Amino acid sequence: MTGGVGFIGSNFINYLLEKESRVHVVNLDLLIYPGGVQNIASLNRQPRHTFAQGDICDSALVGELLKKYAVDTIVNFAAETHVDRSIVEPDQFIKTNVHGTFTLLEEARKYWALAGMRGRFHQISTDEVFGSLNPEEAACTERTPYHPRSPYSASKASADLLAQAYFHTYQMAITLSHCSNNYGPRQFPEKLIPLTIANLLQAQEIPIYGDGLQIRDWLYVEDHCEALYLILRDGQAGESYNIGGENQMTNLELVERICARFDQLRPALKPYRQLIKRVSDRPGHDRRYALAIAKVRQIFQWTPKHGLESGLDKTIQWYLDHLDWLDSILTDAAYLQWVKQNYEFRGQG
Ligand code: NAD
Ligand code: DAU
Repeated sequence: MTGGVGFIGSNFINYLLEKESRVHVVNLDLLIYPGGVQNIASLNRQPRHTFAQGDICDSALVGELLKKYAVDTIVNFAAETHVDRSIVEPDQFIKTNVHGTFTLLEEARKYWALAGMRGRFHQISTDEVFGSLNPEEAACTERTPYHPRSPYSASKASADLLAQAYFHTYQMAITLSHCSNNYGPRQFPEKLIPLTIANLLQAQEIPIYGDGLQIRDWLYVEDHCEALYLILRDGQAGESYNIGGENQMTNLELVERICARFDQLRPALKPYRQLIKRVSDRPGHDRRYALAIAKVRQIFQWTPKHGLESGLDKTIQWYLDHLDWLDSILTDAAYLQWVKQNYEFRGQG
């Protein structure tokens, strides 16, 4: 597994090790974010987890790990993931997301050929590769053509194409999944939901980009983990699968809902929604993402178990229970530098 210290990867490792008693996870992660060290400490409490710090672009290291642990399955979560960062600093997105995925595919191809093993490679992709939809357009299926519009989504689309090329050219057992916006424990507070929670806790303004009417489809991370598990267990090589929450809403409505929950949980003198502040828009901001999930529903009988209310409650509670984790990030010098840089880029004070 790669990127297993991050938000979705760490949740997936916990899910997988609880489900499967004979799986051992080797977790290759570069630890690019503060908060990672605490995530590893909790993952290391799992007996069948081995952490390796390193870069997925490092072919020697990847080759060595594959051989040392006789790896038979790769799930590639590792990526640069924040769209705003990809606009300010696209270079690292191309390195990690494109060259990193290529390195993993190539090292896996060589190692599995040498070991005479038919390994499995699962690429974690995103709904963003399909591009932006209008509110009235039908949701994207697995056959919708790619139309990425940010450096982040273009780099993820490139990685997908490489993975598909390795299936067709080398007959490697490749699967792919496109997921909508996740939320839940351990998401880094640069993303909308944890950023809103962190700012509410500090009585700071919540920046809403543009008119706030952009639509995202929200999925609780545990539901994503369950779908991934089913795809890894029963998915077909060469196939891709959409995993969506069927939970579309505007950013403004989502943030207002979190504010309303805070009004109940931690009543203050004024309603928390007064902290919402419209700020300049994200350049090239995609208006709407939406995924059709008929395929996973039909093949795996999978459907999201969490509605937004229960998912948000669990998420908010996790952050309230882990204020030390949040604090260690919010006071980190690199994080503060990013916040400053992002604000300057967007012309905010
Ligand atoms: P995250 O940013 O929380 O985690 C990414 C992890 O990758 C981090 O632990 C980081 O240290 C690691 N990493 C980054 N560069 C690396 C490198 N060069 N070598 C090794 N490790 C490296 O992201 P996430 O939200 O958990 O996303 C995981 C995957 O899911 C990504 O591929 C992302 O594109 C995809 N995805 C995310 C969402 C979402 O809503 N969060 C939705 C759809 C798809
Ligand atoms: O759709 C899946 C994608 O979801 C993943 O592939 C990405 O890795 C993940 O970061 C996420 O991308 P988004 O750009 O949709 O997520 P983000 O949380 O950054 O923003 C969600 C929406 O909220 C988006 O329309 C931008 C807006 N936003 C975001 C932030 C951080 C704001 O209005 N204000 C903010 O401060």
